[in-house]
Amino acid sequence: MRRKMLCLALLGFALSLGARDKKMDAYVSRLMSKMTLSEKIGQLNLLPGGDVTTGAAMNNELGTLIAQGQLGAVLNTVGRDKIQAMQKIAVEQSRLGIPLLVGLDVIHGYQTIYPIPLAQSCSWDVEGIEAGARIAAEEATSDGINWTFSPMVDIALDPRWGRIAEGSGEDPYLGSLIAQAMVRGYQGDFSSRHDILACLKHYALYGAVEAGRDYNTVDMSHLRMYNQYFPPYKAAVEAGVGSVMTSFNLVDGQHATANRWLLRDVLRQQWGFQDFTVTDYGSIGEMTSHGFGDLKHNSELAINAGTDMDMCATGFQQHLETLVKEGKVSKKTIDEACRRILEAKYKLGLFDEPYRHCNMSDDEQAAHLFTDAHRKAARDFTAETFVLLKNEGQILPLKKSARIALIGPNGDTTDGLLGTWVVARPKSNSYPSLRQAIEEAVKGQGEVYFAQGCNIAPYGRMREAGTSWYIPVVDAEKAHREAMAAAAKADVIVCAMGEGADYSGESHSRVTLDMPETQMALLRDLATLGKPIVLLNFAGRPTTMAWEKEHIPAIMNVWFGGTEMAPALCDVLFGDKVPSGHLTTTLPQHAGQVPLYYNHLNTGRPTNDYEPTFRLYSSNYFEVSNGPAWPFGFGLSYTTFEYGTMNVEQNGRTLKASVTVKNTGDYDATEVVQCYIRDIACRYSRPVKELKGFERVTLRKGESKTVTITLTQESLSFYDENGKLIFEPGEFDIMMGSNSRDVQQKRVTVM
Ligand code: NOJ
Repeated sequence: MRRKMLCLALLGFALSLGARDKKMDAYVSRLMSKMTLSEKIGQLNLLPGGDVTTGAAMNNELGTLIAQGQLGAVLNTVGRDKIQAMQKIAVEQSRLGIPLLVGLDVIHGYQTIYPIPLAQSCSWDVEGIEAGARIAAEEATSDGINWTFSPMVDIALDPRWGRIAEGSGEDPYLGSLIAQAMVRGYQGDFSSRHDILACLKHYALYGAVEAGRDYNTVDMSHLRMYNQYFPPYKAAVEAGVGSVMTSFNLVDGQHATANRWLLRDVLRQQWGFQDFTVTDYGSIGEMTSHGFGDLKHNSELAINAGTDMDMCATGFQQHLETLVKEGKVSKKTIDEACRRILEAKYKLGLFDEPYRHCNMSDDEQAAHLFTDAHRKAARDFTAETFVLLKNEGQILPLKKSARIALIGPNGDTTDGLLGTWVVARPKSNSYPSLRQAIEEAVKGQGEVYFAQGCNIAPYGRMREAGTSWYIPVVDAEKAHREAMAAAAKADVIVCAMGEGADYSGESHSRVTLDMPETQMALLRDLATLGKPIVLLNFAGRPTTMAWEKEHIPAIMNVWFGGTEMAPALCDVLFGDKVPSGHLTTTLPQHAGQVPLYYNHLNTGRPTNDYEPTFRLYSSNYFEVSNGPAWPFGFGLSYTTFEYGTMNVEQNGRTLKASVTVKNTGDYDATEVVQCYIRDIACRYSRPVKELKGFERVTLRKGESKTVTITLTQESLSFYDENGKLIFEPGEFDIMMGSNSRDVQQKRVTVM
């Protein structure tokens, strides 16, 4: 009975969708029948919103373009009133009154800032990530934004690349689940004014730029694309993402923005994407530097390959009309692109209610922006993103009655906690620094002695002052003395060290992954005091901590956690919450090992990843073993978990892998139980491990639970170089454990 009702409900949904689509078709067709070619091309044009003043009649260049119907969308304007002013021109002054799409990089929150996406992925809490995207959607759409340039789903294996901070790490399976969750969180079903249009990016392969240098070239086999890099893009398309942004890089020697195979064959034909594509910022213009020709020629290549909207290169605006006249671009191509963009506007409800995202009163807005409920959700979620790497002698959690020396450049910054993409934010003084949060947490019980201790970094090329935007430059000797004095008075030293929030993100590539020398020197000196030390490693990428791993007893990777990071960190530091984050990128021992990732192919001369001695004529290095400092999936807790013997039940091509996990320690806590496979013999070499399932399981002290992961034929399949999913019968290893290294294993034959 329940099943029948579900079927009827689904049928109803499908029918209403069909009806809505027909209505949309008719609406858009009617509108397009009134549009001139130049107005259609106008819809394909996206420019910065810039300095548009409230309510005033527009006579600046942008206002004129909007009024002439020459602009379909704007980006990078923050503020309801400015956006309303632009929307008013589009609706009231342009001939057909077509409203604008208003885009912004709402990547990890709007005013309530969530942790950077890489940190979010370490929660493995897909629902929590979806809820965060929902909050971002609610806040952004209350302040005029109707299109977010997110999710960024690029798989990245090279921590030198600063944009690794913006993605979900190195795994295509987890990355796919997160991509879908974010699309759901942002877009809902487009029925509410808080549903925001999502934009999948950067299609494709941007995370594979050579040497981790931003905007660099990419070259890889189709086999690798389909199996390792494409899955999160495909998953987001399947979740119904409403727009796709092309990437800055080449794919098969052609620019991703003008790559017919990528945009038409794979995206539209193989995956069924029906909505619009947009370039990344100025890409059509950059094609000239790549060596493809002038702006006019590149505009022709881009639109014919399947790019619908030009972000900021003005190539479409300047040249498409002529290209149509010259017969190089067909009217049909322009019509298709224009239709897709108008459909997005229709789905967002802009034709019915053009001001729906920018007409809230101040009071109404206040009920949606940086609210207590949003901050509470962010605080709870942020606590899940910290990854405890080491906790010798159970230094953590700290006692609130302790005398704590808080030392390091990230100890008393607010903006420096937020992370890379923060375009709109509440006022800095409305959320605390770590120092303020710890002082609050221990009030009346313990003591906090803060000292910055050193300058954050000596890098001359990065900032003129050799430091971060967020951290003051200090007199190094004096700061060092103060830090040592503070540490001498304390029972425990907490170091807030590592990267600055502006060391990762776009155009922030590094060649070293070590902690900057200024901080290392101080850390070494602090370690000589022989007191318990906790290193809170702030990072926007996987960093290397060879010395720290050996000498510092407690290390927690805390990334950049957003507006609620400091209180969330206190929750975990003092044991009100228990860490449960697990790495989604491998942490290498040395930068020379990168790219280093768990799901690699084997070599013909493999060595054990943890082999201590060098082996001649094997695939290894002189200086360090092949293995990571900490493997993918790794994360400790304040409690201990005991794994029983793993069992695999087989029913044809469906496998049920199960293991009983017991909480044997002193804290109620959450574990992430992971399941990996390896295809033993196959027509293509397959990775040594592939994540295929996981479960976050919360266990009280002493409690056990059996976790069962179902593997289907699809879990055991792979793509060939044409994107066809293939299952090859034979032997598979099934593995379960707490991280990608520490697993139990059973071999099964699946025919
Ligand atoms: C360039 C970045 O690559 C992209 O991620 C972003 O969405 C656009 N700029 C717009 O700001």
